[in-house]
Amino acid sequence: MPAYRIDHIGVAVVSIDDALDVYGALGLEVAHREEVPSQKARTAFLPVGESRIELLEPMTEDSPVAKFLAKRGPGVHHVCFSVDDIEKALEDLASRGFRLLHRAAVAGADGKKVAFLHPDAGHGLLIELSQAAAP
Ligand code: CO
Repeated sequence: MPAYRIDHIGVAVVSIDDALDVYGALGLEVAHREEVPSQKARTAFLPVGESRIELLEPMTEDSPVAKFLAKRGPGVHHVCFSVDDIEKALEDLASRGFRLLHRAAVAGADGKKVAFLHPDAGHGLLIELSQAAAP
């Protein structure tokens, strides 16, 4: 179940619309916007090659993204790797002793199944896994 590509890089920002200036200047466009109630965050996905940038903006002060901004400031929040079989990947990581935020995949944007490793597992990088929705 090796990760086979970077699905997206999540970037925490104070305002998606303000952040679009630099991505627009790079020729990137928003393909998809979505509110993620579980994260109390708005997201915007900007395709770049076979990967994407995911901008994350908090909707409330107690959003995990708001807490991230308060603690670390705007910047890279997580990297998401695509895997073929997310349940198998989680089982494998758990069996190797890695801490997981999700023992089972949850519903993510685009109908994908996603899960996060515990931040401590990634040596400073929050790692998200995703499995594409069945066609
Ligand atoms: Co993400």
